[in-house]
Amino acid sequence: MPRINDHFLKLKAGYLFPEIGRRVTQFTDSHPEAAEDLIRCGIGDVTEPLPEACRNAIHEAIDELGTRQSFHGYGPEQGYAFLREAIVDHQFPGIGIDADEIFISDGAKCDTGNILDIFGPGNRIAITDPVYPVYVDTNVMAGNTGDCDREGKYQGLLYLPCTSANQFGPEIPANEKIDLIYLCYPNNPTGEAISREQLTAWVTYARKNDSIILYDAAYEAFIQESDLPRSIFEIDGARDCAIEFRSFSKNAGFTGVRCAYTIIPKNLTGKTATGMQEAIHPLWLRRQSTKFNGASYPVQRGAEAVFSRKGRVQVKELTDYYMNNASLLRTACQTAELEVYGGINSPYVWVACPEGVDSWAMFDLMLEKAHVVITPGAGFGAAGEGYFRISAFNSLENVEEVCRRIVRHLG
Ligand code: MLT
Repeated sequence: MPRINDHFLKLKAGYLFPEIGRRVTQFTDSHPEAAEDLIRCGIGDVTEPLPEACRNAIHEAIDELGTRQSFHGYGPEQGYAFLREAIVDHQFPGIGIDADEIFISDGAKCDTGNILDIFGPGNRIAITDPVYPVYVDTNVMAGNTGDCDREGKYQGLLYLPCTSANQFGPEIPANEKIDLIYLCYPNNPTGEAISREQLTAWVTYARKNDSIILYDAAYEAFIQESDLPRSIFEIDGARDCAIEFRSFSKNAGFTGVRCAYTIIPKNLTGKTATGMQEAIHPLWLRRQSTKFNGASYPVQRGAEAVFSRKGRVQVKELTDYYMNNASLLRTACQTAELEVYGGINSPYVWVACPEGVDSWAMFDLMLEKAHVVITPGAGFGAAGEGYFRISAFNSLENVEEVCRRIVRHLG
């Protein structure tokens, strides 16, 4: 009988979003009359149509596959140059990122999980708390943690709490050397942004301690305030200490289409078991060439169209649409006299539960009374207890209805 990866048995429950789905199905099975009324603001999944520029580009690319002369088989493992070059021109102008440092993939979730393939055992790993659960669960699967304690924390991981007490900004460890640090900004789940000064402090720490920051910028397109950093590579020295993950999922509606990218500077290094310095970029290229065959040609053409003249306008309309939703949700929560965070530079609104209600009780209350699905803060980590997340990814009509129900049931 083959031996299994025992680390999987340490995972404390199902992955958060399927778990929420399971509870919702259980509720609608026993309350079929509520099913039609239900509005889902749990998982951050886009609802609005794919921009026309992207659809047209995908159609044209599919037509190209229809003749032998213009057919495309396997693409380059790192992604087509046309897309990598468009990314550099439009997302990193003047920042010194080379198209060769960009790896196209089918998702930032996959990349943030798969990146652990190229890091060895024994690293000191820090995550913020609450956190996007993928960072934690993939470390558990990779054997980088011990068991889960009663608080829901895995031994071996360093948790950096982010609560209203520190304005959701994780404190930089004063006397501890961390090897890998996960940062996500604008943050999922708290919806809060990081300032240039705060990010500079992290880069300074990472360079001093030979750490690598795994920077998830999947929500960058939702940043409204012009002085906030959109990429870690805007910070001097970040090329020596950071990997950045980006996605087309949330800005351009690609959650189902699938396309993302990861930036690994060529000068970024780690060390071998014997302490020798090794470049990270070739390791990831080797990993991708072996385990991945790229996002499909039509999808990469669709992603390229995000940067076309029409595409840029249509994507901006989409992000504006969701940010208007976020603003309405914030106002409704404030009207209900709830403490509200996030939702200004991010499509997630992070709300403190009313006194004495924990976050899963809040989930039940919203489901049963308001017929609205939210995400309980505790699902993102121990420090998320006492909060819940509302996703602004929905139709305006649904969001307006959610706002009415928030005021009616929580006000
Ligand atoms: C979320 O709701 O946190 C996200 O949709 C999850 C994801 O992007 O994988």
